[in-house]
Amino acid sequence: MCGIVGYIGEKDAYPILINGLKRLEYRGYDSAGVAIIGNETKIFKKKGKVSELEKLVKNKDVSGVIGIGHTRWATHGEPNDVNAHPHTSQNNKFTVIHNGIIENYGRLKRKLEDRGYKFKSQTDTEVLANLIEYIYIKGNGEIDAEHAVRLALSKVIGAYGIVIISKDEPDKLIAARKGSPLVIGIGEGEYYIASDATPIIEHTDSVIYLNNDNVAIIKKDQLTLKTIGNDELKPLIQKLTMDIGSIEKNGYEHFMLKEIFEQPKSILDTFRGRVAADLSEIRLGGLFEVMPKLEKAKRIIIIACGTSWHAGLVAEYLIETLARVPVEVEYGSEFRYRKPIIYEDDVVIAISQSGETADTLAAINIAKEAGATVLGICNVVGASIPRETHAGVYTHAGPEIGVASTKAFTAQVTVLTMIAIILGKNNNTISDDEYTSLIKELTDVPKKVEEILKSDPIIKKISELYKDATNFLYLGRGYLFPVALEGALKLKEISYIHAEGYPAAEMKHGPIALIDENMPVVVIATQDNSYEKIVSNIQEVKARNGKVIAIVTEGDTVIKSMADHVIEVPKSHEAIAPLLTVVPLQLLSYHIAVMRDCNVDQPRNLAKSVTVE
Ligand code: F6R
Repeated sequence: MCGIVGYIGEKDAYPILINGLKRLEYRGYDSAGVAIIGNETKIFKKKGKVSELEKLVKNKDVSGVIGIGHTRWATHGEPNDVNAHPHTSQNNKFTVIHNGIIENYGRLKRKLEDRGYKFKSQTDTEVLANLIEYIYIKGNGEIDAEHAVRLALSKVIGAYGIVIISKDEPDKLIAARKGSPLVIGIGEGEYYIASDATPIIEHTDSVIYLNNDNVAIIKKDQLTLKTIGNDELKPLIQKLTMDIGSIEKNGYEHFMLKEIFEQPKSILDTFRGRVAADLSEIRLGGLFEVMPKLEKAKRIIIIACGTSWHAGLVAEYLIETLARVPVEVEYGSEFRYRKPIIYEDDVVIAISQSGETADTLAAINIAKEAGATVLGICNVVGASIPRETHAGVYTHAGPEIGVASTKAFTAQVTVLTMIAIILGKNNNTISDDEYTSLIKELTDVPKKVEEILKSDPIIKKISELYKDATNFLYLGRGYLFPVALEGALKLKEISYIHAEGYPAAEMKHGPIALIDENMPVVVIATQDNSYEKIVSNIQEVKARNGKVIAIVTEGDTVIKSMADHVIEVPKSHEAIAPLLTVVPLQLLSYHIAVMRDCNVDQPRNLAKSVTVE
């Protein structure tokens, strides 16, 4: 969602802020703004991308060694210059940037209006700025800025990551977190603050992650950490493990393409160190303590959103087939509001790339309150989900900057495949031979993905033929049904072409009515248990003149003779096929989106991490 960056030290703040905003632009790009403390607080804000803000600021005085910056993903109020952050209170005493949603902002706003406050924007953030100021002024010099912030936050319902400048105390930044992440970078005589580590990593690798209800008072050479209730806390300093190369494009035209091509490595990194060198065993250290609970679980509930939910659906097939444990896959947003039935011997697995998705986090809390064991599968080290869960496994995909998730998905499926294989072995539902052969199959995935990536020119040519289609249908069966859903999601989110994923057999129950010569149908049809059935489904599409793009096992001549186009993937065990077959679909959506001139890395209306519900 919105991105936050701040700096306090002795360097010029503006270049640090603008560079940080560019790094954060993947989080939100409706508008951007900065506030810099010089002789006075200078504020610049502009609708559109960070480059628009840069144009506005060109040749203006931006000198100052303390400042804050923000990229916005609109929640309250349309994207425009006025609603862009930072927001200043009526008497200019406080300037605020904010990520999250103040749920009771309407009530607070009315109270402030009754006391004479007038509002320039439609945002909840301006309400917060004015609330802080109102409390501060009412304190008549008895309370300082930090105290006013803490008192204001105690009246706020909702989620926030905020950074505040006070006019009367211009030597500090005040930051607070509830629900929306904030990380502080520690330099020499300087501090950085951001909503994630990407703007910080080029300056320092020493960081402090704020916890919920933390308030940080940051001077250039001093950091004080407190609770909102004013109890002092000892900061926990941690080392960042990401490197700067991982957040740059490294010669690729887009982050998405780079991340698709990184998959041989990101999948390898995800199982490296977890599979014994002689392939005799898989170990997931993060689950060691909870393994007896997993083995005894009568049911596993998987909670996630979007692409991560599709990874969860793959896991339903994996775990039920290999380990014979019933699995339910839930959207976080539905689970949290529908009074779910949760037993103490349920194991809940939350899957999230960012580790900050608001609905997934809320669902985790419900499951914890009901006494279930909750595990997390997350890509961002130190994010909220790994901290809120009882145990878990990190996917080691590296930072994912493209808004459309690609390498995070295959890393999630890699972890889930490992969990299913371990559980199958421990539950005696797979034989020793199957166990060893599945491990071997998994470790072969990186080189098979390398092979698939060589088909990029073929996929590009196919994309050229279908880039103007208005609808796409994606079909798959069994393990490949979630891949069909994922292929359809990738296409619609970055190319704005309407696409639907279906279990192939369901086509006859409705979608077949859509098929004519203008309908491209992507069929994931590798050779597995349902191969014969999917061949029939392809015939049904062809009989109605649909155009078939089939993802097939290499050497398949049957489908080749029927389909309009085939993209081959190496042969594999059917449980491994999702990891391979999704890759051509990622490339197909990428090329179509580029050919349609869409902003692939920053699709309209989307944000990388959805920290509001
Ligand atoms: C799609 C996509 C989203 C995310 C979803 C969940 O490409 O990226 O659908 O998968 O917003 O995000 P995380 O995994 O961060 O919880």
